[in-house]
Amino acid sequence: NLADYGISPTHGFLPDALPLTRLPDPYYNKWEAIATNLQNLILSKRLRGVIDRLPVLSTIGLEHDTEWRRAYMLLTFFAHGYIWGGDTPCDRVPPSISAPLLKVCNHLEVPPVSTYAASVLWNFKPLFVDGGIDSLDNLATLVTFTGSLDESWFYLVSVAIEARGGPIIPLMLAAVEAARAGDSTTVTRCLRAFAERLDDLGELLRRMHENCDPGFFYRRIRTFLAGSKNMADAGLPHGVKWDDGSGTSEYVQYSGPSNAQSSLIQFFDIILGIEHRPTGEKRDPSSESEREGRSAVPKHNFIRDMRRYMPGPHARFLQHVGAVANIREFVESRRTTDLNLSIAYDACLAMLRAFRDIHIAIVTRYIVLPSRENRARSRSRSPVAVRKQQNLATASRNEKHKKVKGTGGTALIPFLKQARDETSEPAVEDW
Ligand code: HEM
Ligand code: ALA
Repeated sequence: NLADYGISPTHGFLPDALPLTRLPDPYYNKWEAIATNLQNLILSKRLRGVIDRLPVLSTIGLEHDTEWRRAYMLLTFFAHGYIWGGDTPCDRVPPSISAPLLKVCNHLEVPPVSTYAASVLWNFKPLFVDGGIDSLDNLATLVTFTGSLDESWFYLVSVAIEARGGPIIPLMLAAVEAARAGDSTTVTRCLRAFAERLDDLGELLRRMHENCDPGFFYRRIRTFLAGSKNMADAGLPHGVKWDDGSGTSEYVQYSGPSNAQSSLIQFFDIILGIEHRPTGEKRDPSSESEREGRSAVPKHNFIRDMRRYMPGPHARFLQHVGAVANIREFVESRRTTDLNLSIAYDACLAMLRAFRDIHIAIVTRYIVLPSRENRARSRSRSPVAVRKQQNLATASRNEKHKKVKGTGGTALIPFLKQARDETSEPAVEDW
């Protein structure tokens, strides 16, 4: 039952109950006041002072999960604003945020860091309640760091993709049932509908350019989304201390938010039998067990690791799907006898690969090119001017020596190209 995993048959991993625009209990008015003025407080560098003076509120006034989710969203936006919103990053988050946040994280089974859930899944509202949430024209965000359309759009493209892609979940679970029953016609029909939907999702992804400026994204937005794991150059080499006032806090390191935390895209991979290996690892013709026997320590697998950043029920759902996914075997067992089935399956792989191609072009335009420009600019500047600039712009801190990493901590293009290439691998079987 999808509801047991917090999944909606129509919107997928977006909550069925719309995110709250405000916590109902007036006890939380101070949090809401900060949220309303977040851009202002960050721009004027007053956020840290305000958070330092903020009383430590309890989670006692949070009832429904919609309230817990809004609390998580607010507190993670405050935390990242606090950490990254000064001349230098701050690696200790005070009890006014940490104490309630750690409790909220415990309740929702999410880590204490901004995630895809905080910035996308639980951070939207429909403009008109009677309009759909799968159209970018009818969506708005609840909280942003910068108050810009660019930042809202960056999150909303993902919201629309999640909403439009949601119906693929029940569709493909039906395909799993049909495959189990040997009903090839139904599996083929489901795969065709899936491929068409994937094409729609690619069209949505392409719309990123419409309202999100790459330079603004690079310099002003992603600064706040940085993590503290595998991206030490961003400025948090030890991680962050979530000081909840108990006097026991230690440094912890987490990836920043990344769409690799989208359960929907991971669902696509799992249901189609696509396997993602640790970065740099080539396809190995030997069996799974042999491979594991050879390396005692399992290698870090970023995509797999990102499941720890999904809300607990969503991660458990993916685990369950992994245990029942049978489409790839079903198609392969009929490769020579059922042409329509093979074509429909290969179309899904091709569409998902095309989606990843669009994404790679976006990453080039939004991260790789602006980072080169920044570097070229800092090389041509005189040392005095460099020093001045370092005081001014948090984004260009030590730009000269910086290895560009994704907010999740990957090396960007090599990682993304491998994920793309793995997408079409199952298709190479004797075909
Ligand atoms: C991963 C950048 C929008 C889906 C990544 C990574 C980067 C990145 C750098 C590597 C992981 C990391 O280290 O953070 C961007 C940029 C975007 C954008 C700059 C827009 C300006 C999107 C959107 C989606 C998406 C809208 C789809 C909902 C993914 C997925 C991964 C990923 C699924 C994991 C890799 C894979 O499965 O192929 N993204 N992303 N991204 N992104 Fe994006
Ligand atoms: N993961 C995206 C980035 O690295 C947000 O910028």
